[in-house]
Amino acid sequence: MQTFIEKMPKAELHVHLEGTLEPELSFALAKKNGIEMSYKTPQELIAAYDFHDLPSFLTIYYAGMNVLVEEDDFYQLTYAYLTKARSEETLYAELFFDPQAHTTRGIAFETIITGIHKAQVDAEQKLGIKSQLILCFLRDMSAESAMQHLDLAMPYLDWIVGVGLDSDERNNPPIKFAEVFAKAKKMGLKLTMHCDVNQNNTLTHINQCISEIQVDRIDHGINSLESEELCTLIKDKKLGLTVCPVSNQFVVQSLTSDEIHKMLDKDMLVTINSDDPAYFRAYLNENLVKLQKEGGFNQAQIVTLVANAFKVAWLDEVTKENYLNQLEDYVAQ
Ligand code: ADE
Ligand code: ZN
Repeated sequence: MQTFIEKMPKAELHVHLEGTLEPELSFALAKKNGIEMSYKTPQELIAAYDFHDLPSFLTIYYAGMNVLVEEDDFYQLTYAYLTKARSEETLYAELFFDPQAHTTRGIAFETIITGIHKAQVDAEQKLGIKSQLILCFLRDMSAESAMQHLDLAMPYLDWIVGVGLDSDERNNPPIKFAEVFAKAKKMGLKLTMHCDVNQNNTLTHINQCISEIQVDRIDHGINSLESEELCTLIKDKKLGLTVCPVSNQFVVQSLTSDEIHKMLDKDMLVTINSDDPAYFRAYLNENLVKLQKEGGFNQAQIVTLVANAFKVAWLDEVTKENYLNQLEDYVAQ
């Protein structure tokens, strides 16, 4: 089963580029940019990773970004992730980035997005991995700041497929960003939002995402299972859920395999993803392998989880069909 998973053609729909920053690259960029690291070696840095909830993770995640300064730093970050993903037979990825976490440090929006975009183009040409970019707003910053960043993105609309919402969910409901997301939708962008596992008022947040914001997907969304009504809405609207088992394990001490079984039983379009793989020390294959072992998923269920990601990807129908055919051929062989 492990080999079957590792060799499968896959898609990843929930990965934060800044969460793919490996300690070795951090140290190399810090040296180049003259930034002092708080730890002597990459191993010491990894040993200091101590997450038990969303805020404790976010503190370390934002601190790690300080080494990203020049356009080429964003290029290297993106190219390294796409290389790793392609080596795991991930053929398609939708990548979150957090511009506000960089512009607040004085980095120009143009620097960030140009570095990322050039790496995407090169990786598609040289490695054969296709990717699209999702601009995430930080929900613990103001709606005005989010709007300013949507405006900054205007000249780069061709490089962005959608917008998302991440960071600390506490007291930052979806509705706070209703105007920004309505504008993004008018601009032709797809919409998604994080509804992280076990957050305060999670059912209200999930409901706002669906009914008020009218998202195209939900990131995480595990707690929707607590409401039959929400499950029905998610199913009827064919909303994909981008679940991240190893990430969840840091918050709820479980890969949420029971919940993922329930979603499959209900025919909800659940997908498996890595979230912040350099921090959680698990890329997509590790997420799938660990999940399969913990939850005893059979081959057909694993195929459904992977096929769901292609089905709810923000791609045209023909491209999706091509990927799904590749997956079908692989399974047949
Ligand atoms: N930023 C990066 N990873 C995140 C997550 N899992 N939830 C919220 N914000 C994030
Ligand atoms: Zn996430």
